[in-house]
Order: sequence, then C-alpha cells, then structure tokens
Amino acid sequence: MDGWTYLCRVDEVADGRGLTVEAAGARLAVLRDGDTIAVMFDRCPHAGGSLGSGWVEDREAVCPLHRWRFRLRDGRCDVPGHSAHIVEHRVRSGEVWGRIGPS
Ligand code: FES
Repeated sequence: MDGWTYLCRVDEVADGRGLTVEAAGARLAVLRDGDTIAVMFDRCPHAGGSLGSGWVEDREAVCPLHRWRFRLRDGRCDVPGHSAHIVEHRVRSGEVWGRIGPS
C-alpha cells in the first residue's frame, strides 16, 4: 500500500491493551478494543508517558502514568488542548498499517 507503513499484526495487541511499535522513525501506540484498533503517537501530551504501555477503558486510551484518557476515535482528551495525535490506519488481513507523515 503506497504511503502506508506496516505496524504490527492485530493479534499482537491484547484486547483492551496497547502496544508500542517503531515504524518509519516514529514511536506509535497501537490500541485495541475488541475489533476496534486505534493508532496514536506513543507520547502522552501530558508528560510524555507511553500510551502503548497503557490500556483501554470505555473506548478511551488510558495513560499509565497519571491516567489521563484519550478517546480512541479522535484522540480527544477531557483536558482542553491536550489531545493525543491520531495516526490514520488501516487493517488488512489481520495487519495494522499506518500512514505516517506527509503522504
Ligand atoms: S504522562 Fe500521561 S497522564 Fe501524565
């Protein structure tokens, strides 16, 4: 897929958990909530915690450091101005691919 980078297999991400992956020079968090996958930059906007080391509750990623929460759909945080950066992704044949950087 042109412009897309392989991130991981879906089954590498435990349901309700995150996984940190390095791809195309970026560190990303892949999060899984059942059949839903979300990809964000791995750096929490609060103080740099690893969102890939966090977990999912109520369709939100939870940062393991201070438990700020980021909506899986769009990265929105309840704290204004601190949303997580979402990476566009696709799932194909059990593989997660991300579009990182300019396309
Ligand atoms: S570093 Fe993520 S909530 Fe503080």
